[in-house]
Amino acid sequence: MEKTFHITTFGCQMNEHDSEIMAGMLSDIGYTEKENRDDAKVLIINTCSVRENADKRFFGTLGQLKRRKEREPDLIVCVSGCMMQQKQITDTINEKYPWVDIIFGTNNIHRLPHLIHDLIASRQEGGEEKKEREVWDEAGAIVEGLPAKRLYRSKALVNIMYGCNNFCTYCIVPYTRGRERSRDPEEILKEVCRLAQDGVKEIMFLGQNVNSYAGENCSFAELIKRAAAVDGIERIRFMTSHPKDISDELIDTFRTCDKLCNNIHLPVQAGSDRILKRMNRKYTRAQYLERIRKLREAAPGITISTDIIVGFPGETEEDFADTLSLVEEVGYDSAFTFLYSKRNETPAADYAEQVPEDVKHERFGRLVDLVNRISAEKNKAYEGRTVKVLVEGASKNKKTALSGRTEGFKLVNFDAPEGIDPQEMEGKTVDVKITRGKTFSLEGELEK
Ligand code: SAH
Ligand code: SF4
Ligand code: F3S
Repeated sequence: MEKTFHITTFGCQMNEHDSEIMAGMLSDIGYTEKENRDDAKVLIINTCSVRENADKRFFGTLGQLKRRKEREPDLIVCVSGCMMQQKQITDTINEKYPWVDIIFGTNNIHRLPHLIHDLIASRQEGGEEKKEREVWDEAGAIVEGLPAKRLYRSKALVNIMYGCNNFCTYCIVPYTRGRERSRDPEEILKEVCRLAQDGVKEIMFLGQNVNSYAGENCSFAELIKRAAAVDGIERIRFMTSHPKDISDELIDTFRTCDKLCNNIHLPVQAGSDRILKRMNRKYTRAQYLERIRKLREAAPGITISTDIIVGFPGETEEDFADTLSLVEEVGYDSAFTFLYSKRNETPAADYAEQVPEDVKHERFGRLVDLVNRISAEKNKAYEGRTVKVLVEGASKNKKTALSGRTEGFKLVNFDAPEGIDPQEMEGKTVDVKITRGKTFSLEGELEK
């Protein structure tokens, strides 16, 4: 069989980073990554249990793959990610899609090369092929030193903690990713140094709740400062932080640490205290706004993004109006908006007052309009200003254009200088004069 692979990623940054690690491990054992799924022999579908319609898209993908698997029995179809940590999902796969070759979970991605090896060995022995099913309910010790094949040359995702202890009543993540575990700070710093030596300029610290990071004698703020001392690293970001855990020490780090980007993703979820309480978010609207005020004071011009859920069980029109007014009050640079959807096993799934679908959709539309209007206003204000952009590579839409991000995580597209290979610009920080602020991105011209 040809040693080629392709990974489809459905989830968040953590899911994406897991995919980078899988790609790294497979490359290390001689497999080549293919851009198109149709050209690869080992196919991995890395699933998510949260994103809208993620489950429908997943089963849809499996449906498509069935025919190919019939034509090409030597294909290796692997499924992984958060959905695999839910028993009813693996039961469904075993029952309806028994031809899936390998199932593994979020706690044992390091086992992928072994599982592929065992599957191939069983094929070579002849007789009945043994399908591999290995999902660990509990996380074992953190496995260090796994390779990762980065999506970008100049920026890298670095996991600092795993799991979540918060049990927001709508959320399945504590069940699919387990309890909080922090990585050893020395291991994290070794990784940051290796990345810097490999040309990485920007790192993003990852975790479901990064600011509850608790390393050996090392707070989260301390970790940022130590990473900032690594030569070559120019920018540090993190995702996601929980509003209840934003410490004054962290806020102060925005003031004192130049390399910490003036940018934060701070999910609010709802603007009404009644709903926040039912969500078990452990902060009030006033406390959230106070954190925002302090952040803005410490880091003037900081860009702020958020996650918002519409139609949580029991949400009244009045509660929803509180969400709208909070969005106005904060003035988010951008927001991910979610329609509440029931997740099995979570407390909110059993709440009686589920909001009717049509009401949810109508509110969702109003929220998105508001969020987009504010994003557009914020971006418009950049017109005429010159910003520093870390170049990520060729723009998605236009081959001769480059794209990169500002410190505030704004996506900027601009034309590549004539006669210069866009690849050469990757990882460089350049001055770009913004000519147009659109809803989701900025356009500009390279300053000479
Ligand atoms: N750990 C992060 C985010 C985890 S999931 C945090 O706490 O902020 C990403 C987002 O998905 C959440 O912030 C929430 O807005 C959304 N989400 C999670 N479960 C959901 C559900 N059942 N219905 C709708 N949105 C949900
Ligand atoms: Fe889910 Fe809440 Fe944990 Fe975020 S903090 S992962 S929303 S339980
Ligand atoms: Fe989805 Fe798992 Fe991330 S449920 S959002 S991929 S942690």
